[in-house]
Amino acid sequence: MKSSRDVALTDLEPGVEQMRDEVVDGLMQRRKTISSKYFYDLRGSQLFDRICELDEYYPTRTELGIMRDSIDEIAELTGPSCLLIEFGSGSSLKTRILLDHLKEVAAYVPVDISKAHLLASAKEVNADYPTLEVLPVCADFTAQFEVPECDRPIEKRLLYFPGSTIGNLQPDKAVDLLRNAVETCGPDGGMLIGVDLKKDAAILERAYDDAAGVTAAFNKNVLVRLNRELGADFDVDQFQHEAIYNDEKGRIEMHLRSRRAQVVRVGGTEISFEAGETIHTENSHKYSISEFAALASAAGFTVDRVWTDAKRWFSVQYLSVD
Ligand code: AVI
Repeated sequence: MKSSRDVALTDLEPGVEQMRDEVVDGLMQRRKTISSKYFYDLRGSQLFDRICELDEYYPTRTELGIMRDSIDEIAELTGPSCLLIEFGSGSSLKTRILLDHLKEVAAYVPVDISKAHLLASAKEVNADYPTLEVLPVCADFTAQFEVPECDRPIEKRLLYFPGSTIGNLQPDKAVDLLRNAVETCGPDGGMLIGVDLKKDAAILERAYDDAAGVTAAFNKNVLVRLNRELGADFDVDQFQHEAIYNDEKGRIEMHLRSRRAQVVRVGGTEISFEAGETIHTENSHKYSISEFAALASAAGFTVDRVWTDAKRWFSVQYLSVD
């Protein structure tokens, strides 16, 4: 009979002081910013799951289609007995395709900054794959962290980074993350990464400003979170969601635009807004295949294989360490 294991959490969640310092610092800049990593409290993670199901938000279903169509080749390339490490695991949806098809996965290490969501999905994976060792790590994966040891012997580490979350980092920070990934994978390891591709601006702007207003709620939820966790006093209705494609930088930018002049208190600091001033809350960079290959190569990876959908809207890429 199969036995189910407990999931032992490695907890490296950034503390509230770090969040306060980073948020206040960002809001005191001439161009106000809040890091998109603060979107993902429990409500933010749930709203993100709803975004993934929207008609306008093509990345999730397109990436899932590519994974389903290419899984045999992926399994062939990655080989048996991988330690599967996932950055930004969220609901671990796409991971199940890997867990169902890779040969003898040694253990699964989901890494996410949203603790409650991470634990809930780790438990679901554990229930559905009772013989698999699941070792969740709550951490900011843009920083280096220790990968937990697993019980079974492993052939290699496979780092899975789906969803084009790499696009949420500025290109220089994306290279830093990929450099860390080279260290995490080790010399025989590999990385399977989802990378969203350049396309018509109208398609992109629709994807980040859906008709039902789910993305708007997701964007504004960061203010709700700051009110709750930092005792801030944002009047959320006085901020408006915006998503625009910045052609020069090749990225969708999300902003919260202040509807009027106002003063907000955050962690004991007063922040003044002019009418129409924005908080820049997210970048989502879109790459060409060659632009991404240049980033990967700067970090010490070679792109071995690229799979795309018929419209070439999204790519899944296998990178090996040089
Ligand atoms: C998590 N990340 C890849 C999403 C994206 O598309 O940049 C976050 C998101 N923001 C708005 N919609 C989805």
